[in-house]
Amino acid sequence: MAASKEKVILAYSGGLDTSCCIKWLQEEKNLDVVAVVGDVGQEHDGLAPIKEKALRSGAVDCVVVDMRDTFAKEYLTKALAANALYENKYPLVSALSRPLISKHLVDAAHKYGASCIAHGCTGKGNDQVRFEASIAMLDPSLEILAPVREWDFNTRPEEMAWAQAHGVEVPTTKASPYSIDDNLWGRAIECGVLEDPWCEPPADIYTMTQASEEAPDQPQYVEITFGRGVPYMLDGKQMSFLGVIYALNDIAGTHGFGRIDMVENRLVGVKSRECYEAPGALALIEAHKALEDLVLEREVLHFKHGMEQTWAELVYNGQWFSPLKEAIDAFMASTQRCLSGTVRLKFYKGACTVVGRKSSYSLYDEGLATYDEDDSFDHAAAKGFIGLWTLPTKTWAINRRQEGAPAELFDAQNAAGPLKKGRYEN
Ligand code: ARG
Repeated sequence: MAASKEKVILAYSGGLDTSCCIKWLQEEKNLDVVAVVGDVGQEHDGLAPIKEKALRSGAVDCVVVDMRDTFAKEYLTKALAANALYENKYPLVSALSRPLISKHLVDAAHKYGASCIAHGCTGKGNDQVRFEASIAMLDPSLEILAPVREWDFNTRPEEMAWAQAHGVEVPTTKASPYSIDDNLWGRAIECGVLEDPWCEPPADIYTMTQASEEAPDQPQYVEITFGRGVPYMLDGKQMSFLGVIYALNDIAGTHGFGRIDMVENRLVGVKSRECYEAPGALALIEAHKALEDLVLEREVLHFKHGMEQTWAELVYNGQWFSPLKEAIDAFMASTQRCLSGTVRLKFYKGACTVVGRKSSYSLYDEGLATYDEDDSFDHAAAKGFIGLWTLPTKTWAINRRQEGAPAELFDAQNAAGPLKKGRYEN
């Protein structure tokens, strides 16, 4: 009897690339393949057929994991706490799912006694970095294989011909010209005509959002209630965070809100044109920010804005399990302790507008803010405050004028005039 082969754990999607990966790993690397399929809320026609396909393609086993609840609870709550938007636009859809999938790949490697993990990412994207960096941080002893980066099919027809010759099922329907990745937090669409950044995205690339032109003529109001930063109620009806995400994807998508068309800086150095739709995620981030404006003390809020950028960059760059990301999460968690309250959103023809916010932890003091007779703000104190507030810059201005410092430090009128005698003169 032949000695049993070494095992490799493969992140499997059911598509042509990862199906070819199964055969390729068997033939080129002489490995037994265990496929892992994760449900992170992507569109699919059932997970059972994907499992069957993995087995038909030659996998010795296929593990299907419903990751949606964990994805929502352990990943998306943190993304929301950080109002995470890479380059101020992209809510990190794919970047958020990779570390979770990696965790399951590593678990499977331990369970099946595999010493290596494979993924189907190309050598040009961010996802390869996220998988490999996550795996390295979770178990640095594991080896990684990236068949798509190694094999030498240059075109899809070449890959299809190889598949056919090796008994891998070839899709019968015409292949979509786009590369798509989706989950609960949204959908990424790239390639095809989108590679021309001047070309308007064709209407048919979107499936989660309606065109704003076709959105309902009546606005829709939605009230989102948060407890410690996490939404748990929609229009007064209690539901899980997962339920809130599904509901908001539906409502916001119907009203045409949540499309993004951007040129993005990938970690691997290229600029790429990316289209996304993330109706629920973007609506939740809007609402969450509005509640923070009401509840967070000014310095915390301002400092948090900087931390949010850093958090988004770390996660985009595959550093989910890094110590810095963990430390920032602790900061974020601290800011969310009193983030409870309700935000009212209005959806209408592609727009999502915050039209109301309330919280028992609100720092908004009507007495301090009002201009009417109930005003409790100490106007007289403002004079002394401004005197001290401007003291350092006033001292600076007096000194520089006396010393005849370069005119451009002051104003246009001075710039035109002659320099006074002083130490800046030569
Ligand atoms: N550019 C995005 C990111 O790096 C989306 C990646 C989507 N992946 C895909 N296979 N289409 O997060």
